[in-house]
Amino acid sequence: MACMKAVIIGVLLSMATAERRFPDGFKFGTATSSYQIEGAWNVSDKGESIWDRFVHTRPEAVSDRSTGDVACDSYNRWREDVQLLEDLHVDYYRFSISWPRLLPTGFANRVSEDGARYYGDLIDALLEKGIEPVITLYHWDLPQTLQDLGGWTNPLITEWFTDYARVIFDLYGDRVKTWLTINEPVVVCDVGYTGYIAPGLESEGRGSYLCTKHILLAHAKAYRLYEAEYKPLYQGQVSLTNQMMWFVPETEEDAELTELVKIYTIDRYCHPMFSAAGGWPPALERLIAQQSAEEGEPRSRLPPFTQDEIDLVRGSYDFLALNHYTTRTVRRAGEGEVGTFLVDGFRELGVMPGNIPEWLTSTPHQPEVHPGGIRALLGYVKQQYGDVPIFIMENGLTDLGTAIDDQPRATYFRNYLDQVLLAIEEDGVNVRRYTVWSLLDNFEWVHGYQLHFGLHRVNFSSPQRTRTARRSARYYAAVARTKDLDAQYHFENIADEL
Ligand code: GAL
Repeated sequence: MACMKAVIIGVLLSMATAERRFPDGFKFGTATSSYQIEGAWNVSDKGESIWDRFVHTRPEAVSDRSTGDVACDSYNRWREDVQLLEDLHVDYYRFSISWPRLLPTGFANRVSEDGARYYGDLIDALLEKGIEPVITLYHWDLPQTLQDLGGWTNPLITEWFTDYARVIFDLYGDRVKTWLTINEPVVVCDVGYTGYIAPGLESEGRGSYLCTKHILLAHAKAYRLYEAEYKPLYQGQVSLTNQMMWFVPETEEDAELTELVKIYTIDRYCHPMFSAAGGWPPALERLIAQQSAEEGEPRSRLPPFTQDEIDLVRGSYDFLALNHYTTRTVRRAGEGEVGTFLVDGFRELGVMPGNIPEWLTSTPHQPEVHPGGIRALLGYVKQQYGDVPIFIMENGLTDLGTAIDDQPRATYFRNYLDQVLLAIEEDGVNVRRYTVWSLLDNFEWVHGYQLHFGLHRVNFSSPQRTRTARRSARYYAAVARTKDLDAQYHFENIADEL
């Protein structure tokens, strides 16, 4: 019987391995961010970040009233993380640097020796194992000192960020070749200024647009710095990564509105960088100018770019990176219905998201699972911006449980990867990398430790923060090792059923 099983599995494996293989050179990775995993929020000379301030002063904002004070304790347990990465066979590890850990004052006048050593050791250990370090400079933990001066709404932040980038390129540029300046400007600016996440300020449609402009300029200045001074030495690549949901109309009547939502959420950030003309998407510029005038504003709430700024930002990329989780439906908001950006609507556009019942999950925060959405999104990006190399820098499924046997997550990866492969093979989209969010269960922002995204479960009640590989980790390790979408998946399912 056992022998029979082995034969059946062998046959199915060989059938499965036939075609669903990613191209040579395609890379697989996984990701985390500093505040979500490191802990050690006040060790050594580390400065306070806006997330430290937010969770300590507004505990009710986090659903389980938890903090990232200890999180996965990766500041102390990073060697274990490197081991997990090796076991996953991933090509690269995307992690972020905590700005206030490296620059305790927020400014480049003083570099923390402990901070610099921490990230340097991690980079070296990854390289020793043949894993490429991919670094995000900013994944939401702004130094509180800079927030006190207006944070991303202050135009001077473009200089503070460039100074910070220079410190990092000087320290690690010889060893790190792939850089993301900023994680998800759309969340930093649009959600950050709804009051929902740090810094907890409410200035939607005003502060959020100042932030949008300055974050694009900060990115572009850091990009130009790298291009001029470090690229000739190290030949690395730089871009930013943004959150891109996919949107579909609830009814045919909502089709036009849906296009506007895409422009608002995707192109507001992409058009300035990736289009030939640069600057804001014209349709959006007109819309916000018109609405501002109707509201009696002396000028548009969307701050204009000068021609020099347009030229600075346009072309400031070596690849286009995106994070994608879910698809939402779009309908016009009813009388008195007001949505908060990405959380439950788009105030500026008078739009509310709706639901397609078959796609619904029971998990808050990631309401709909629709693998076809990633293929459609990739097609849209190609149609808008041409044959740019695309890196998927986050994709993952959350759940409320802590099961090791996380079959739905393995299935999610299999089905989303299938659509990515179709985008490459059928639609000719130039996708080069795929990244799972996340290596570990971690501090999931305002959802604390209640939502889990990890390929590895973390036991947050144990002082050791014990990590355990889930079924999805075994599946993903097989994909990363073989570049074959189906082998391990069929093996796992069939082996279970026999
Ligand atoms: C992204 C974010 C990550 C992670 C993920 C899952 O928006 O970059 O830090 O929280 O969502 O919710």
